[in-house]
Amino acid sequence: MTTDPLSQYRDRIETKLSNLLTSASDASSLGKAMRYACLGGGKRLRACLAYLSAEALGLSLDDADSTAMAVELIHGYSLIHDDLPSMDDDALRRGKPSTHIAFGEAEAILAGDALQALAFQVIADDVRLSAETKVGLIAALSRAAGAKGMVGGQALDMMSEHQTLEINVLAKTHSLKTGALISFAAASAGFHPDRNASDSKALKQFGEKLGLAFQVQDDILDETSSTETLGKQQGSDKAQAKSTFVSALGLAGAQNQLSNLIADATDSLKQSGLATPNLIGLIAWLRQRNY
Ligand code: IPE
Ligand code: IPE
Ligand code: MG
Ligand code: MG
Ligand code: MG
Repeated sequence: MTTDPLSQYRDRIETKLSNLLTSASDASSLGKAMRYACLGGGKRLRACLAYLSAEALGLSLDDADSTAMAVELIHGYSLIHDDLPSMDDDALRRGKPSTHIAFGEAEAILAGDALQALAFQVIADDVRLSAETKVGLIAALSRAAGAKGMVGGQALDMMSEHQTLEINVLAKTHSLKTGALISFAAASAGFHPDRNASDSKALKQFGEKLGLAFQVQDDILDETSSTETLGKQQGSDKAQAKSTFVSALGLAGAQNQLSNLIADATDSLKQSGLATPNLIGLIAWLRQRNY
């Protein structure tokens, strides 16, 4: 018996992404950089959420494969760009040299661009999904990834270096840069035909709360964990004078906020009647993560 309820979903997304990237990229250094950035690392939280929300709404995992891949591709691209010298200037990612260190800056930027395009392609090419479902997913993912989602949050994050933000402004930044994609993943099953609108809305709200909690925890781990455990540079936020929940509230204050946010996310899931054992297991696993 496995002690990790998510391992089967992680194995599944690794295989799916590996097959996709093998067919969608070639032996050029661009193709190598795309595979380097996306394979063999990462907790796969967003893919797991896409799979678990599909299960919660009675869909098969096959129905969620393209969404799970798409959200991990957007996430992978966001990490490549996040580490660039002009952004967070981080040389280590998932225990390996960041993509721009391994392949050079131009190739890294282009690999990110290509992964972003591939995310939308993989949904568009999914023969299992109806045209209506594909359009719904693509519209929601493009919103979550764009100027009013992840990229908008990244812009706010960059602008707020060396500043002390009001906590609600900081929460908005975190919700956009990290919460938007996580919320998309949690809500994605709702785009399939005949799903109950209130279930879809409840999963979206759960994802928004979980996504904010996830970034608060990322801020805490940047302070408390080690480079070796994180697989990325510990103390990067302080080095870049980032506005984080730890810089705004102190470590104990941020930990307190995290507990409240996790409790809130759990409550909203329970109230919706969608608290499957696997979704509850995912929350428990996130709560005790150290990387
Ligand atoms: C890191 O995300 C960047 C954030 C949005 C906080 P993850 O912690 O999910 O990164 P991987 O995919 O596991 O490497
Ligand atoms: C990144 O936030 C959010 C993204 C959209 C990639 P961070 O800059 O805190 O992520 P890490 O700590 O470098 O993984
Ligand atoms: Mg960043
Ligand atoms: Mg960063
Ligand atoms: Mg961080």
